[in-house]
Amino acid sequence: MAGNVKDTNYISAREASKIARFNRKVTAKLEARHASKNTPESHYLTKMHDENNVVEFDNVCTYFFTDIGTSKAVDGISFNVPKCSTVGIVGESGCGKSVTSLSLMQLLQRPSGQVVGGEIRFNMGDGKAYDVVKTPTEQMQHIRGKHISMIFQEPMTSLNPVFRIGAQIEEVLLLHNPEMTEEAAKARTIEMLEMVGIANSEGVYSMYPHELSGGMRQRAMIAIALACSPDLIIADEPTTALDVTIQAQILDLLRELKDKINSSIMLITHDLGVVAQMADYVVVMYAGRVVEKGTSDDIFHHPMHPYTIGLMKSKPVVGQKVDKLYNIKGSVPNPIDMPDYCYFRDRCDFVCDRCHGEYPPEIKVSDTHVVSCYRFFDEGEVLGYPRSVNPEDLLND
Ligand SMILES: Nc1ncnc2c1ncn2[C@@H]1O[C@H](COP(=O)(O)OP(=O)(O)O)[C@@H](O)[C@H]1O
Ligand code: SF4
Ligand SMILES: [Mg+2]
Repeated sequence: MAGNVKDTNYISAREASKIARFNRKVTAKLEARHASKNTPESHYLTKMHDENNVVEFDNVCTYFFTDIGTSKAVDGISFNVPKCSTVGIVGESGCGKSVTSLSLMQLLQRPSGQVVGGEIRFNMGDGKAYDVVKTPTEQMQHIRGKHISMIFQEPMTSLNPVFRIGAQIEEVLLLHNPEMTEEAAKARTIEMLEMVGIANSEGVYSMYPHELSGGMRQRAMIAIALACSPDLIIADEPTTALDVTIQAQILDLLRELKDKINSSIMLITHDLGVVAQMADYVVVMYAGRVVEKGTSDDIFHHPMHPYTIGLMKSKPVVGQKVDKLYNIKGSVPNPIDMPDYCYFRDRCDFVCDRCHGEYPPEIKVSDTHVVSCYRFFDEGEVLGYPRSVNPEDLLND
């Protein structure tokens, strides 16, 4: 079966060609969804479940159709980003944080990467909401930059080395505001550079990216991202490449600007310290699924999922002397061949009888706190199970 390969270390030539055939068929079918021109708005219009959210991820599944089988990078995740708030997405490297944000931006590496299930509802503000999964690429280009923008880890990969900083900010402004004059764009650009704390704004306006330090480049990158006052800023490991003092400055800046333009931030990081400083809500991901979500207070002061507890223990605490940082034993399961029970079971110190059954459901333990772990099965309200997609079924839809 192409969608579920048992031994990923060895694949026979026959199996490999079977997978390749399957991938060609399935990706051609999924690509056809994006290709149709003149898709009516009614096709991707949807309704927010709560108008106070900017974005709602509802059972989203994003798979990669690779040469060794279907990799379920994100598999049935649900969480919301409320208006004017910061939501931290945390988890070990490879757990699907970036794939989640790329799915929202429609920036997945296609055709191998595809959102195959669920809905991503984006609040357009005027009472309208779009399901990003069904939104045509053309329409998405208006949404990116104007409604949602992204700050990446390494500014040099997103700044264009051959254009001056000023020109790159102006380009974004003019693209999304065709009525703006060039003088107005320049004035706004200088204002943006000042807003992100660049003192010599006129000078930096005519500099090339390589003439700036890492911290300054990240500020310029933020200026580009915020140029059109987006409703949502996705910051993917925004400070990982910076040293600690600059990191703190950039985080302060992000927080301050977010309030100034009334936007929300989806802050992706493997660094719990950064989340603790910044986030109102926290979503903990493990192996492509959300294992726990709640307010910052819920997660930091009352962590419930054994994985979250492990993450907390492996975080250094200022002023506390430890011989050795805690390390969660074992490793993450292979995304091509996920078990049919709790993905954390092989690493878990709290296994109970129920854990030998199917993957645990989402359990609501308080108004704000949800955890996917059988330990709380009798203590809260069962909300439902994450819905996975059988790759073979995609050919029959
Ligand atoms: N272009 C790709 N092709 C195949 N697999 C990918 C691709 N991008 C990401 N993945 C897989 O998706 C999973 C999640 O990756 P990612 O979202 O980048 O993790 P992180 O939480 O570190 O941001 C990983 O198993 C990764 O190998
Ligand atoms: S469901 Fe069971 S195995 Fe999974 S994290 Fe909870 S206690 Fe551990
Ligand atoms: Mg990442």
